[in-house]
Amino acid sequence: MQSTAFATPPVIAPRRCAPAATSCRALYDTLSQPDAPAGADAQAYLVGQLARAASHPCDLPDTAAGLNDWIAPRSAAIGTQYQQYLASRRDGAPRRFFTSKSHALYFLRCVAPTKLVDGAWLYGALQRWQENDFRPLVKTYVEELGDGLPDKNHVVLYQRLLDNHGCAEWDDLGGAHFTQGALQLALAHAGESFLPEMIGYNLGYEQLPLHLLITAYELNELGIDPYYFTLHITVDNGSTGHARDAVDALQRIAARAADPAEFYRRVREGYKLNELGENTNSVIASFDLEQELVRILAAKAVVGQNMHSDYCRVAGKTINAWLADPEQIPGLLRAFESTGWIKRGAAPQESRFWSLLQGDHAEMFGVFSSYEQQVLADWIATPAQAGGPATDAPRVASFRARQRALAPARSAPPKAHGARALIRYPYAGHAGEHEAENDQLRRLEQAVALAPSTSAAMKLLVAHMAPSRHHTATGLMATRMFVRLLG
Ligand SMILES: [Fe+2]
Repeated sequence: MQSTAFATPPVIAPRRCAPAATSCRALYDTLSQPDAPAGADAQAYLVGQLARAASHPCDLPDTAAGLNDWIAPRSAAIGTQYQQYLASRRDGAPRRFFTSKSHALYFLRCVAPTKLVDGAWLYGALQRWQENDFRPLVKTYVEELGDGLPDKNHVVLYQRLLDNHGCAEWDDLGGAHFTQGALQLALAHAGESFLPEMIGYNLGYEQLPLHLLITAYELNELGIDPYYFTLHITVDNGSTGHARDAVDALQRIAARAADPAEFYRRVREGYKLNELGENTNSVIASFDLEQELVRILAAKAVVGQNMHSDYCRVAGKTINAWLADPEQIPGLLRAFESTGWIKRGAAPQESRFWSLLQGDHAEMFGVFSSYEQQVLADWIATPAQAGGPATDAPRVASFRARQRALAPARSAPPKAHGARALIRYPYAGHAGEHEAENDQLRRLEQAVALAPSTSAAMKLLVAHMAPSRHHTATGLMATRMFVRLLG
């Protein structure tokens, strides 16, 4: 097959010096479209981000050969730290990451732009499926895609997690939340010019971090299915998993480079890209329960400011007047407290305001998602001026969310997926969509069957396995066919 992403042997293209003018968000939006244009924007973006990352420290060994002795003690240290964490929890220490269920859901929502392009940076490696040295990277990518099985595809799994907890609306996140996702998509589209950096980024991303272990443990404790995270604990392991594959691929491909030392220098630069933008720890640290409630109410106010009658008043002011200016939301919360609509530090059911949201005759039933209700419940349960974590507010899980969590994968409903509508469930949708989808599947099957060679068939399949497409029914089928042909 003629390579379009990377040439043989790996080429170290001269680095362009143009600064990246494109913002993380703009590039993310562009490259996550189904027919994303490849090329120049992604390359210019990477040049800029590599310059940003250049001053970050790098804990990689000085040579690629040194990685064999680097990986094992590193993963042993993580194991030891995790055991210490577990021991501290057994001794009564509080959760280290999530002060409440809403804190955990806030985390899931904030990292959505990254998780919904999981594995994207490796897409270019598919073009080299015939070369043994690239096999570890190809294997990692198709495993991110769950080998084409919706129950194993990481992006499908994460979208379901968001949907099950009412966290699928994340369009208003700040730009830094899109940095890692934009980097991953840029590496997918940048082609051979950034091969060493892509391999370095992969090396960093596929190492098992302590925060993944703690996240999975605490999500489970809070009644949130940790499967997406536990899945990564097993697949990223340093002995046989993606972390090991990352080192194998690096050493084999670097050895073929015209200048292996220069190749490895650039691997180290790519590795440092993992440090940019928001990350697990910064997102967890950024949670402020009241601020998040204010954000939610301000977003509702855009529609809600004209939906209430003049009879709806709090502290002498109509709800419509309160909602007319987002700056007034904190004042509205104080008014809810002072007028007794909300009783802080008590179970939400004791507050009159809560009865507007839940119950047979709740006037605002359905206005707040299960995530938004959880934030409100935790805020109510937290005593005013406590400043600390929410105390045990009841965990809000809608009946529909519980049903979805229990439903078999194929019957997962076609939920609205946020303003961006990035992910479509396979096998979901109305009859017309099914027909169109079946038609696409038939056409792909036919095209592959008629392809003049395996290489031509693989090229067709690879196009459907792009980061923006692999989680659709056609993308999943293409992945399954690709895996079968790969052997
Ligand atoms: Fe993944």
